[in-house]
Amino acid sequence: EEIKASCGTFRSYRGLFLPPGAHTAESLEFAQNFSVEDSDVFGVTYPKSGTIWMQEILPLVLSGGDLTPVQTVVNWDRVPWLEEKRLAQVVDKLVSPRALVTHFQYSFMPPSFRTSKAKVIYVLRNPKDVLVSSYYFHQMAAFLEDPGTFDEFMEIFLDGRVVFGKWTDHVKSWKNAELGDRILFITYEEMVQDLPASIRRISDFLRRNLSEDVIHKIAENCSFQSMKANAMSNFSLCPKEYMDSDKSPFLRKGIAGDWKNHFNSEQLARFKSVITKELEGENFSLPWSLD
Ligand code: A3P
Repeated sequence: EEIKASCGTFRSYRGLFLPPGAHTAESLEFAQNFSVEDSDVFGVTYPKSGTIWMQEILPLVLSGGDLTPVQTVVNWDRVPWLEEKRLAQVVDKLVSPRALVTHFQYSFMPPSFRTSKAKVIYVLRNPKDVLVSSYYFHQMAAFLEDPGTFDEFMEIFLDGRVVFGKWTDHVKSWKNAELGDRILFITYEEMVQDLPASIRRISDFLRRNLSEDVIHKIAENCSFQSMKANAMSNFSLCPKEYMDSDKSPFLRKGIAGDWKNHFNSEQLARFKSVITKELEGENFSLPWSLD
């Protein structure tokens, strides 16, 4: 189903809005029929939680620190999105173990994922910072609606009238997926705080035995500054009509806690109460306080 919006045509897919352009009926069908291999690794994120960071880290960890992919292959081809039309074009070039990313909630994963042993690294980011990052992203991405004021956008976000739906639904779907030792939960905040330790967690989870030297080399290449300077990772190769980095760069601030510069006390109370209510009765708790 297609929904006309001021900025283009949104696709409504099983009740969720998806960005137009990169998502087509064919790409969604391709994703459903995708044949997941046991050795595949999925970086799973709600948008603006660290997706492109995973596109940098995963190939380096899986290859034991070979810089070639991050220096020569653009991020969306290097670690493609499961749901986007680019996957069909690059799938044959992916080498095993393959790394992919997805913004899908768990219930949208293809049947072959469920029966496979493929692993998931789920990156959680404080939703207050997700909202802020998304607010700027909506200003620069031509394929997304203008966000209006921060106050207006907060309501849209809390209502889930955004691409890929509600943040709480996304987190719940993966927290309740019961994937056992197939899934690692990591936070954006711990990656900001100690990237080498986070890369060590990821590499241990993927059973790579990486030396301290390799871990540090990977961490250096995945720093905010390195990625911002890497044309293969900073979206400078993306046409300006699609993403205008003069309005706001994709690699914008790369910090934890920018919400403090955006929320007033009423917004904070409202945000906290909505999220808390939606997570009531769940058998997991969030890794940060929402205060
Ligand atoms: P900000 O807008 O807060 O700066 P996604 O890739 O899921 O769209 O998420 C984008 C967010 O991740 C942006 O957040 C971006 O700056 C941040 N990010 C990407 N790479 C990063 C890195 N190496 N270090 C810190 N933050 C990074």
